Formats: sequence, structure tokens, C-alpha cells
Amino acid sequence: MYTIYLYDQPIGRLITRGTGIQFTYDVQALANSSMPAISLSMPKREEPYGGKVARAFFLNLLPEGAYKRLVEQMTGTSAGNDSALLGAIGGECPGAIAIWPEGQLPPAILHYEPLTTSDLQQLFDPLNATAIASATRRARLSLAGVQEKTALYRDDTNNWQRPLDGAITSHILKQPAAAFPHLLENELFCMTLADRAGLDVAHVGLPAPAVRVFCTERFDRIRSAGAPDAAHPRIKLHQEDFCQVLEVLPSQKYQDEGGPGLKQCASVLSTFTTLPIEDITRLLRWVGFNYIVGNEDAHAKNLALLYLPNSELRLAPHYDLVSTEVYPDLARGCAMKIGRATTFSGVQATDWKRVAAMLDLPWSAARDELRTLAGQVNQVLVQTQASCNENFGSAPVYVSIAALAETRTSRLLADTVR
Ligand SMILES: Nc1ncnc2c1ncn2[C@@H]1O[C@H](COP(=O)(O)OP(=O)(O)O)[C@@H](O)[C@H]1O
Ligand SMILES: [Mg+2]
Repeated sequence: MYTIYLYDQPIGRLITRGTGIQFTYDVQALANSSMPAISLSMPKREEPYGGKVARAFFLNLLPEGAYKRLVEQMTGTSAGNDSALLGAIGGECPGAIAIWPEGQLPPAILHYEPLTTSDLQQLFDPLNATAIASATRRARLSLAGVQEKTALYRDDTNNWQRPLDGAITSHILKQPAAAFPHLLENELFCMTLADRAGLDVAHVGLPAPAVRVFCTERFDRIRSAGAPDAAHPRIKLHQEDFCQVLEVLPSQKYQDEGGPGLKQCASVLSTFTTLPIEDITRLLRWVGFNYIVGNEDAHAKNLALLYLPNSELRLAPHYDLVSTEVYPDLARGCAMKIGRATTFSGVQATDWKRVAAMLDLPWSAARDELRTLAGQVNQVLVQTQASCNENFGSAPVYVSIAALAETRTSRLLADTVR
């Protein structure tokens, strides 16, 4: 059995049931009206949650693919024993969830080890196949996604610290997969371009000039003077990804495998967020931006809801913006259909009208937004290349993505005239 915490308070219990899991809210949490539910998919109630809804919520907290298997090995967890893996690495999770085996309390004092630049280089040394998974195990840290990654704490003097035993983290660091040339520069470029074009995106950069891994500041760990540990003044905000909200397993996140499409993502926003029209417009701009840079991996786990301290619930800043289309060997196909199109090159003018309908936006408003976006991207393309060259070093992938973006913005402008 495992104790589930939300914002460092116990909220319920997780037990294994055959091959499944079951989550039950604690009586105290049910009685405490200031304590929210762990997920929009599991409103507070006395009866346990089992089946797909519980599996989808908890499995979406875990890593996926080969990296998940490596973490299973490092923690001595049997392959596919997901509750045991949650117990082993759930001390610091996406959002404000923490998971501890029954009888084991989260440490009262947060523990860290200082990390020099050379320690960071060793941690991300591609020749050291287990360093990241080992750091993740020692940190009891769970992060979703397929890329090998870990999270660290950067203090106010910009020094890095290695978290231990569920200690709060501030940044996520991803090891670029060697199979995709210049993936690091690709993601840095797309995120910087989106930021400069006016999308709301997570802050990104390199952890240190000599450490070439993707680093993003966690939007679910904000600075706060009221943090319990004055030496690590961050608090947790809760977030849940759209697969969690929509009860979709990570293995089914692509629309052609039964995963959510744009219409369902828009309905999450219209049903739950504090400012649905603004957030749906942000969703539209995200779709347009993914089309422009050729991000075919824009699935529902790359969208999240963020629970803000003022009690607002909003579409979280964007993350994981990568041009997959610059890799010619990958099978073409977008994670969610654009209207009826299943590939970006197949998108027709009518598909944008369908997208507007899926998002329940008037065509005139959607059209204006897409045209504005195309103009904004065009306006910042050259300066984004210059700033990425300067800040992250030159890479041929900037030129390839910029060329694709030029073609796509002109096509988008041509397709949205009427
Ligand atoms: N800046 C961020 N702040 C908070 N959470 C983030 C941030 N970036 C990513 N995440 C979380 O980490 C997960 C994995 O990150 P992502 O960049 O999508 O990795 P991958 O390339 O492996 O899919 C995301 O699904 C999201 O839950
Ligand atoms: Mg992702």
C-alpha cells in the first residue's frame, strides 16, 4: 500500500488489485473542503477509484519506453509493476503529487548534494548509461515522457544541487537522444521561436555553457517566500496532463491509437478552465505553431492544466516543442488530426475551418489568430536564429526549421485568406 500526498498533505491510499490499482481518498481529506481532488477525472468521493481512470492518472506520472525500463532496472522493480515503481520514485512527481510506501514518511528535512559543472557533465555523459537513471532513483523522482531526463535544483546563486529522497526540484534536464541529430538545438530553437512569437512557453536554456542538455524551469515549482525550506524557496503547484484529465493511458496518447484529438482537448478547456476562450485561443496558436515548425509529436501529454495559487485553473505554458519533420526517416503523421488531415503536408484550407469548428471558435476569429501567428513567427525568425547561434552555438537544424517555417507560414496565410 502507498500513501498519496497532494501539496505535501496525505490525501489517500493506493493499493494493488490483481494487475490493477485502486485509489481511495482518506476520510480526513474528504472532510477538508480546502483540499482539492487529485485529478479532474477523480472528484472526491468515498468509493475507491479503480480500473482505467486510476491507471491512467498514475501511469501518466511515470516515465515511458526504454527510459522507464532502465529506471525499473535501477530501482529493482519488476517490469510492468507500476505501483511498485510509483512507490520507488514517486517522492517528487509532476504537479503536486507525492507517493510513499506505507510506513515510510517523506523526510522532514530536504536533502541535496552540491553539483559542480564537472559533476553535471558526468551526470549527462552519454557514455555513462546509468547516471541519469541513478540520479532519478536517488531523488525518488518521477517525470513523464520517453526522453531520458532528471530534475535538479538551481539555487539563487545559479549553483546546481542534486535532490535526494523526494526533495523539491526546480528544473527538468533532458538528455538529447543520439538518434536525432541536433535534437537539443532543435528544441531550444522551437521553444525560443514560440516565446518570441508570443506563445506562453516554459523557460528554457542550457544548465551551464559547457553542459549541452536541454534545461527547462518547472512551471509547477514556483518561488515563494512561504516555502517550508527557506534554503530552497519553491512550492509545488499542481498540474495534470490532458491524458490524465481524459483517462487515457500513456500508451494510447496518439489519436490514431485511440488518443485524444483537438475536439476533446478543446472540451477540457471549455469545461474546466477559468478563462476558456483565452485558453482555447492559446490551444489554436499551439496547433498553428506545431504546423509551422513541423512538430508531429504534439499529443495530449504535451498539454497540461496548471492549478495557479490564486485558484485559477489554466492551460499550462507550452513545453516539448520540437520539429520532428526535419528528420526524414521518421514516419510522417501528426499526433492529432488537423481537421481531416493526418499529416501536416496534407493540410488544406478547409482543414483550418474544421479546426476552428473543433475548437468551437468562429472562423473569423480563428482565421485572424492564425494569420497573426504566421506574421509573428515570420517577424522573429531571423532574430531567433541569431540569438540561438549566440546563446546555444550554431547548428544546421536552425536553418532547416526556419526554411520549413517560411514555407508553412506562407501556406498558412494563403489558406486563411477567406
Ligand atoms: N517546464 C516544465 N514545467 C513543468 N513540467 C514540465 C516542464 N516541461 C516538461 N514538463 C513535464 O515533464 C514531462 C516530460 O517533458 P517533455 O519535455 O514532454 O519530455 P519528452 O520529450 O520525454 O516527452 C511533461 O509531460 C510534463 O509533465
Ligand atoms: Mg513530451
